[in-house]
Amino acid sequence: MATQAEVKPLQFTERINRIEPSATLAVVGEADKLRAQGVDLVDFGAGEPHFATPQHIKEAAIAAIHANFTKYTPVGGTAELRDAIVHRHSMDFDSDFKREQCIASVGGKHALFNAIQVLIGHGDEVILPVPYWVSFKDIIRYAGGVPVYVQADETQDFRLTPQMIERALTPRTKAIILNSPSNPTGAVMSPADQTAILRLAHERGLWVISDECYVYLNFTGQRFSVGSLREYQDRTVIIGSLSKTYSMTGWRLGYALAPASVVSAMQKLQSQSTSNPTSIVQKAAVAALNGDQKCVDDMLAEWVRLRDHVVAGLKKIPGVTCARPEGAFYVYPNLSKLFGTSVNSAADMAKKLLHEAHVAVVPGEGFGTREHIRISYATSQKELDRGLERMAKLFASL
Ligand SMILES: Cc1ncc(COP(=O)(O)O)c(C=O)c1O
Repeated sequence: MATQAEVKPLQFTERINRIEPSATLAVVGEADKLRAQGVDLVDFGAGEPHFATPQHIKEAAIAAIHANFTKYTPVGGTAELRDAIVHRHSMDFDSDFKREQCIASVGGKHALFNAIQVLIGHGDEVILPVPYWVSFKDIIRYAGGVPVYVQADETQDFRLTPQMIERALTPRTKAIILNSPSNPTGAVMSPADQTAILRLAHERGLWVISDECYVYLNFTGQRFSVGSLREYQDRTVIIGSLSKTYSMTGWRLGYALAPASVVSAMQKLQSQSTSNPTSIVQKAAVAALNGDQKCVDDMLAEWVRLRDHVVAGLKKIPGVTCARPEGAFYVYPNLSKLFGTSVNSAADMAKKLLHEAHVAVVPGEGFGTREHIRISYATSQKELDRGLERMAKLFASL
């Protein structure tokens, strides 16, 4: 029998060593550990709505189980679901995608992963605006691509202009990532800036991968998808998700809208990995997309109220500066004025907040900046107040 010493260490692939575990999921893990020890934690770490999934959506899933809709479906989702996705998109954003330009996947992250595997090869450069959602960088790297970082302008509420992107283009550039509204800043790009970036990409023969998972959580009153720009559709991949819009994070249903050839390649990849998204979830998704959208409007009104509350609270804390987000459910305050000898990075501050103030936040390092923390305000106003009070006390003691 082989002894412990004789067993060779596991050799993992170069590919898996290129990427890191998700920083946001790491915070969730730490917070869970403290909670299990009985710590009374205020959790601003979670990247998911605090609302229950609307009743009519849950009932559609239960009905699907009772109707034995529990077998394999087509890999990219049923025709009924893909039609519901393109119909909803056309109603809300005046797009004209066809069923064959749509694939349903196991969450928006899965759709993004598949799209990048299909479009990005070894050495391809991908423009990634900073601050970025944690997974973009690692998904690009896993495909062999090289993220090229473009810093958004914090003094202009993290604005990203076409000129900033143009300066970063090289002959190796293959794609540009957009994410409006943004995780982690909540920044919303103007339709004019997005249009100019699509035009630029079109002129240079580049792909735009537009992550629109928060597209319905837009507080400007001017909800916008690049899918409405029909003239640029041949170079655009839109990533969508039901997770945040309908408070369905655990159900895992996302999609991509893209040229039929890209969808077909993504389907090939999906056919060799997960196959179809869960059958009963597809029925629930159809109910969400085709049903009354009042639940989306109700949640939006609550997001705006919570955003106003948390921004006002943060602005009262000495040393904290904070851009006013126009979408998603995150604020991204800059804490650099509070840095000194014991705390001189967001990671230090997040550790102190977690272990001394018992407030869970995500440090900016995971999003490409070291002066900010991400606060998710997807919680009750009472929890927000408890957390803000604890943060103010800790900051005052530094
Ligand atoms: C910017 C962005 N894209 C995609 C996703 C993935 O969402 P899901 O896989 O739940 O659809 C998230 C989740 O936090 C996100 O923040």
